[in-house]
Amino acid sequence: MRVSVVGTGYVGLVSGVCLAETGHTVTCVDIDPAKVDKINQAIPPIYEKGLEVLLKKNSGTHLFATTDLRTAVLNSDLSLIAVGTPFDGSAIDLKYIREVARQIGEVIRDKDSYHVVVVKSTVVPGTTDDVVLPILEQASGKKAGKDFGVGMNPEFLREGEAVEDFMFPDRIVLGGIDARTQDTMALLYEVFPNVDKIKTSPKTAEMIKYTANSLLATMISFSNEIGNLCSVLGGIDVVDVMKGVHLDKRLTPILDNGQRVVPVFTTYLEAGCGFGGSCFPKDVKALIVHGQDRGQPMQLLDSVIAINERQPQQVMDILKRRLPDLGQARIGILGLAFKPGTDDMRESPSIPIVQALQALGTTMKAYDPIAKTEARHLFGDQHITYTDSLEDTLTDVDAVVLLTRWPEFKGVPALLKQIGQSPLMVDGRRMLDKADFEHYEGIGLQVA
Ligand SMILES: NC(=O)c1ccc[n+]([C@@H]2O[C@H](COP(=O)([O-])OP(=O)(O)OC[C@H]3O[C@@H](n4cnc5c(N)ncnc54)[C@H](O)[C@@H]3O)[C@@H](O)[C@H]2O)c1
Repeated sequence: MRVSVVGTGYVGLVSGVCLAETGHTVTCVDIDPAKVDKINQAIPPIYEKGLEVLLKKNSGTHLFATTDLRTAVLNSDLSLIAVGTPFDGSAIDLKYIREVARQIGEVIRDKDSYHVVVVKSTVVPGTTDDVVLPILEQASGKKAGKDFGVGMNPEFLREGEAVEDFMFPDRIVLGGIDARTQDTMALLYEVFPNVDKIKTSPKTAEMIKYTANSLLATMISFSNEIGNLCSVLGGIDVVDVMKGVHLDKRLTPILDNGQRVVPVFTTYLEAGCGFGGSCFPKDVKALIVHGQDRGQPMQLLDSVIAINERQPQQVMDILKRRLPDLGQARIGILGLAFKPGTDDMRESPSIPIVQALQALGTTMKAYDPIAKTEARHLFGDQHITYTDSLEDTLTDVDAVVLLTRWPEFKGVPALLKQIGQSPLMVDGRRMLDKADFEHYEGIGLQVA
């Protein structure tokens, strides 16, 4: 199939590259010429495991990039819209979606063949039917369902595992205004015959995506609320509590051979310094406003956000309690990205923490295996240096603050032993064993 992908960020680029890998001919469209140039040179503009190999393999044969939307849409059978849908502080901002829908509509006006327009961006329920479809009809002067198809195909990839998630999907949701649209969308994913597919309306497809993200965000804030309670009750470690909860066989089923299945799901039931990224915070907020505007109070999700926004403060509270003269302290920061496997800093819990320490004048050394450049853009160089090694970050500091679950941080206890120093360890992700440290504090642990 000939596919144009409009908006070549995380989702657009990964989708484009993976669709090319599965045999489609893909043209990635973006307004950012620098991004387009990089893609055409087979250099990924973002870090994502496995992306570079597939980009190099398909670039120039199955995968092309351009700023010319018109030519791309004219020469494709289906267009995926994958532009950003930020939260503007009061609601979802659909300006990029509107603009792209208008541009595609204008091309459809001049197209003789049937074209399907599919929204891949995360948009609140009703957007495809009530915003995208009318813009397409108006700009094209043609009729949806007759001259062109309109669909919604939410993306479930996780940053850090995006290529793997796209190439080995757990589900494919095909929301289309009619059977023809749904069937055309299904052709995109023909190479995944055994994956569960849901053919449904665009509105239901949109709601599936928000519900899935809201559930995961809720589990994290639930765990964090329990963790915060454990801290004030004293004598209880949330890690032990969650271990006991995970052993419920409805969460971790026991097989006939006695072995337990430990689903990834349980990692969302762990306390930490909060969720971030480009999706959970903005999507949950957008759904809250969408519900409230329609007279439906969204009390649970309101609390999910409120708990999450307070969570980085838990780390600051520990630091202030243990290092009363925090402005004079030297701190090693481990991890800046919002999660391991990505250089994405959007809404990372490290942001309020590093900025609060910068405001206090605390001297920081920060280490992140991938997000250093992105972080420097954000934080600048005031009171913070960016190290290239874990060892350097751990040396000659009063406290080490772990904010991202990078697997290599498991080596911290051994490295500290080697260096011969024992700074206070503040584990914002509870990924290390407290028994390995002389001075250890963490989310969900007794306040000393
Ligand atoms: N990042 C994720 O993990 C993830 C996962 C699932 C769904 N989503 C959703 O996918 C959508 C895209 O997210 P993202 O993280 O890829 O965004 P992004 O900001 O990384 O990328 C958006 C891209 O669109 C381009 N763009 C903007 N206007 C354009 C236009 N008129 N024409 C062509 N290109 C244009 C931008 O230059 C940018 O490259 C959002 O709705 C998001 O919620 C994201």
